Amino acid sequence: MRGKFITLEGIDGAGKTTHLRWLEYFLKERGETVIITREPGGTPLGEALRGILLDDRQVMHAETEALLMFAARREHLDKVILPALSRGTWVISDRFTDASFAYQGGGRRLSLQKLNELECWVQGEFQPDVTLYLDVSIASGRQRTSNIKQADRFEKEQDEFFRRVREAYLERAKKFPERIRVIDANQSLEDVRRSVEKSIATICA
Ligand SMILES: Nc1ncnc2c1ncn2[C@@H]1O[C@H](COP(=O)(O)OP(=O)(O)OP(=O)(O)O)[C@@H](O)[C@H]1O
Ligand SMILES: [Mg+2]
Repeated sequence: MRGKFITLEGIDGAGKTTHLRWLEYFLKERGETVIITREPGGTPLGEALRGILLDDRQVMHAETEALLMFAARREHLDKVILPALSRGTWVISDRFTDASFAYQGGGRRLSLQKLNELECWVQGEFQPDVTLYLDVSIASGRQRTSNIKQADRFEKEQDEFFRRVREAYLERAKKFPERIRVIDANQSLEDVRRSVEKSIATICA
């Protein structure tokens, strides 16, 4: 049987990595074979592209940024995601295409039509089985990540950029209510975890 594909989305500090690790544990306990991966990245070439995309010394056109994201994704689908799903392995990815619509579409104001074309080119009709969008306020997200690591090329953006990213995520969730579950990530870790568990119950059944 084909594995399920779960993606986690949200701005920095929303709790994606934290809940991804927990989801991995939860699904393994249930006897599933699971791999965790991330975007941009997930393959040697994708990780090299991630290095370029997150490097704050790089200056690039918004369309270059989008093209590199989708190039990394093409590789990720081909080498990791699709082969795993067809051998029955579940795949949990820290970000996927909704992030391109949020960051390059909302944040960088790239045309949705172009992003739709890239999505269609790279993945056709393929979509995650479920996407958990962890919605956190910009202030809490910043506070949670402030002393963890140095800000990358995206994290250096102003609040206004993240306001547009968040708005684009919420718009995306409204457009695909069956697939995207919005989780209030301002809640305590325990409460977010409970919401995450509830949100994947339908695909675990
Ligand atoms: N609901 C929560 N309440 C309090 N702290 C939280 C919550 N969720 C996450 N955190 C803490 O916030 C920090 C950032 O969380 P995490 O790394 O999971 O976020 P992320 O979405 O993966 O961020 P990034 O995009 O920067 O990788 C961690 O220290 C984590 O323990
Ligand atoms: Mg993370």
